[in-house]
Amino acid sequence: MKIKWFGHAAFLLSGNNVVLIDPFITDNPSAPCKWSDINCEIICITHGHQDHFGDAIKIAKKNNAVIISNHEIAEYASQSAMVEGLNKGGSIKMKNTKITMTNAFHSSSMKETYMGEACGYIIESGAKIYHAGDTCLFSDMRLIGDAGLDVAILPIGDRYTMGIDDAVSAVALLMPKIVIPMHYDTFPIIKQNPKKFKALVEAAGKAEVVILKPGEEFEV
Ligand code: NI
Ligand code: MN
Repeated sequence: MKIKWFGHAAFLLSGNNVVLIDPFITDNPSAPCKWSDINCEIICITHGHQDHFGDAIKIAKKNNAVIISNHEIAEYASQSAMVEGLNKGGSIKMKNTKITMTNAFHSSSMKETYMGEACGYIIESGAKIYHAGDTCLFSDMRLIGDAGLDVAILPIGDRYTMGIDDAVSAVALLMPKIVIPMHYDTFPIIKQNPKKFKALVEAAGKAEVVILKPGEEFEV
């Protein structure tokens, strides 16, 4: 599987299928391309905030892609795109990819409208990836890790999500082989030093940290 970062929480996983997560491209100062450059089959949304829902509708329509999200966002997006609503603990098999919705602790709204609860995803499509979404640290990450993860994609930006120290603790619970940090440096308010995160995780011997630049790709 190839994992490409578009900055912030936006990733493209090219495994058995092509899965796009949280496609915040147009207003994302770190985005390396335009929304119209992205091709995908499935789009997973972690919550209703614009820095995650982003260009989902436009990209879904252009690609005939299916949007996967919580029930409330699926209801909203179904007015303009194909959708599959899930709730936490639930899975869906689409083509050769299995997607499971996990818990996350964060809010979820669009223009003050309640958009269900925030979530993360476990995506199995040749490799097993956990995208935490926006969340704080929580001890049930240990149960998510029990499934055996190849890669965990974790926020380190602080302020709206966990910061570096809690993300280091998250790695100890999740025990993935590889960790990719996200949700930092997009805006000055979430500026972080990912090399500090890498040094702390690798000093604990828990996992290898891969720091991507927006537009960069990593193969697992
Ligand atoms: Ni958010
Ligand atoms: Mn966010």
